[in-house]
Amino acid sequence: MADFSHAFARRTRLRGGEELAAILAGSPPGVLSMTGGFPNPATFPTDELDAIAARLLRDDAAVAMQYTPVAGLPGVRAYLLDRVEATQGRRPDAGELMVTSGGMECIALLCAALVDPGDAVVVEAPSYLGALMAFAGAEAEVVPVDMDDDGLVVEALAERLDAGLRPKFVYTIPEYQNPTGRTLPLARRHAFVELCRRHGVLVFEDVAYRELAWGGDPPPTLWSLAPDVVVQAGTFSKSFFPGVRLGWAVGPADVVAELVAAKGNTDQCAGGLGQRLLEEYGRAGGFERHLPAARELYASHWAALAGALAAQMPEGVTWTEPAGGFLTWMTLPDGLDSTALRADAIAAGVAYVPGAPFFVDGGGARTLRLSFSHLAGPDLAIAAERLGGVVRGALDRVPQHTSGG
Ligand SMILES: Cc1ncc(COP(=O)(O)O)c(C=O)c1O
Repeated sequence: MADFSHAFARRTRLRGGEELAAILAGSPPGVLSMTGGFPNPATFPTDELDAIAARLLRDDAAVAMQYTPVAGLPGVRAYLLDRVEATQGRRPDAGELMVTSGGMECIALLCAALVDPGDAVVVEAPSYLGALMAFAGAEAEVVPVDMDDDGLVVEALAERLDAGLRPKFVYTIPEYQNPTGRTLPLARRHAFVELCRRHGVLVFEDVAYRELAWGGDPPPTLWSLAPDVVVQAGTFSKSFFPGVRLGWAVGPADVVAELVAAKGNTDQCAGGLGQRLLEEYGRAGGFERHLPAARELYASHWAALAGALAAQMPEGVTWTEPAGGFLTWMTLPDGLDSTALRADAIAAGVAYVPGAPFFVDGGGARTLRLSFSHLAGPDLAIAAERLGGVVRGALDRVPQHTSGG
């Protein structure tokens, strides 16, 4: 068979996507999987969309089935301006918003528009694997900045910027972060954008999980606090459905214009049918009708998992307490390695994502990510019990623990 590997671009050899592939591949039968951050299909508004899709195909095919302007259909953009204003308390100007083919595409567009090989890009440590891979693929120098329980440590970023680091942007997921579930409090948000404004550094805010808040309203978006220095990527994957591949970008008009130009070199427009579905669903109040049930579902899953973890995990294991989204982040006691334990976990019938790949500079060996979006409460309880058994078994094999220390 012919071998075309000589033709593969250099970037294909950059830090690989095995971890993401493993997440997307799913788990063997019988294994309770807490890996993928996928929305629960019970939240998909199929009945309403059935009627809207039939109507669009009958009455609006010339628009819905046609190519659209690169920045999105005018009516859809107008709807998104209204929606951003309603949900974030600030209305973008028309030139400050575009439709994207999802959050991940927005990350790719930012790379295409802003990142030359060797440019620095700051990320939270840990951060979303898809973004880390995109930045590596763009040949960026990816610079991690520490987080604590309240998200990005702004003083740590300040130290780097004061020392002369000049990143093209700082990528942040301010609420229900992937992978940690953490949320940046208001005071830090102010300090963060003020710092970046002072240094002339762009903030790239990813609000993927923001609409799935169950523990009270999240603080204002970074973009709403500082629209002059923040580009925001939003997605409808978690609040509508990921099969539609739709999101938005808002930010300074000159940056958005570059993102639109970059999109002209890739898919040229998000699908018209999905854009019109979203507009009709949104204008008819679909989000207001359906999001409360989605939030309740994920809140109930978290309550089940949190209770089961508290009952099942041995002393010394800690985890974050998300107030929205799909994810919690666990830290195992000293001496344990979540990557090494993965095979034991799968053999015991439970799957998680080891934490190390979410860090760019090594580290995170004791951490792991659990998603509670999919499994129902009783299965989450069994999954926690299995995980507790695996961790206890591993602790028994750590010398200081078996010696009673
Ligand atoms: C933080 C974050 N950003 C972006 C995305 C990708 O979103 P989309 O499906 O819109 O490409 C995800 C998906 O899991 C995510 O967790």
